[in-house]
Amino acid sequence: MSSSVPVLVISNRKGGAGKTTVSVNISAEFAAAKQRILLIDLDSQGHCAVGLGVKISAGQAAVHDIFTSPTLRLIDAVCETSIHNLFLLPANPAFQHGDSGNDEQCLARALADKSIAEQFDLIVIDTPPSLDNLLLNALAAANWVLVPYVPHPLSFEGVRQLVRVLFKVISSRNPKLKILGFLPVMTGNHVRQHRQTTEQVTKQFGALRVLNGIRTDIKLAEAFGVGKPIRLYAAKSRGAEDFSELATTLIQLMKK
Ligand SMILES: Nc1ncnc2c1ncn2[C@@H]1O[C@H](COP(=O)(O)OP(=O)(O)OP(=O)(O)O)[C@@H](O)[C@H]1O
Ligand SMILES: [Mg+2]
Repeated sequence: MSSSVPVLVISNRKGGAGKTTVSVNISAEFAAAKQRILLIDLDSQGHCAVGLGVKISAGQAAVHDIFTSPTLRLIDAVCETSIHNLFLLPANPAFQHGDSGNDEQCLARALADKSIAEQFDLIVIDTPPSLDNLLLNALAAANWVLVPYVPHPLSFEGVRQLVRVLFKVISSRNPKLKILGFLPVMTGNHVRQHRQTTEQVTKQFGALRVLNGIRTDIKLAEAFGVGKPIRLYAAKSRGAEDFSELATTLIQLMKK
C-alpha cells in the first residue's frame, strides 16, 4: 500500500549527517518551485519544527501518534509554516522510538488518504538516526531515498549498512523504492579525506548516484538556529546556492 502522493525519504543511520538540514532546506526549495510540500518529521527530536520556526502547542497531534492511535487522520495533525506551500507534520518529542511496534506499513496506510492526495504534490520525510521500525515505515511508504553523508571515513560504514537495508526493502517489500542519490554534505574539496570517502562511495555505488555536495557553510547552522530555511535567511550564501542547485537536480531525477 502506498500514498498516491510521491514520497522522498532523507535517511542515514548516522547521527549528525545533515538529514534535518537537508530535509528542511530542500522542502523549502521545492515549495518555492510551486510544489505543495508536506514535510514529515519522523525523528522524535522534533528538529524540523525548530528549523522552520514552527511553535508546537501542547496537545498538538503528531505523526508518531499513528503508532498508538490507529484511527488518527494525519491530515488533522498538519501544521502551517511561515512558508507558502510548505506544511509540517510534526514529531512527538515524548515518543520512545521502541514504541513503534513491528508493523512496517503503519505510515504507508495513514498516508493513503484522499485528503492528503488532494492537498500535496510531494511528501518529504526526515528520519531518525537509526535502522529501526520507524525507518522501515518511512521506506515502506517511499518512492525515493536520498542519503546525505559527511565525507569522513567513519561514515562509509554507516552508508554501507543503510544500503544493505535499502536493498532488502526493495527486493522484499517495496519494489518501487529507488535510491535517488548519495549527497555529500559539509564538504570542502580541498580536504583530502573528503575526496577519499566520496571516491569510495562512488566506487561502491556508481558515479551517477553521487550528487554535487552541500558545502560547509556556517550560515546553514545559523539559519537553523533562527528557524528559517537558508533561502530566506541568506539568499546569496554558498548554502543557498547549493540547495537551489540540488533542488533543480532532484526535480529532474524524480521525473525519470
Ligand atoms: N552544510 C553544512 N554546513 C555547516 N553546518 C551544517 C551543514 N549541514 C549541517 N550542518 C550542521 O550540522 C549539524 C548536524 O546537522 P543535522 O541536524 O542536519 O544532522 P542530522 O543528520 O539531522 O542529525 P540527527 O541524526 O541528530 O538527526 C547541525 O548543527 C547543522 O546545523
Ligand atoms: Mg535530524
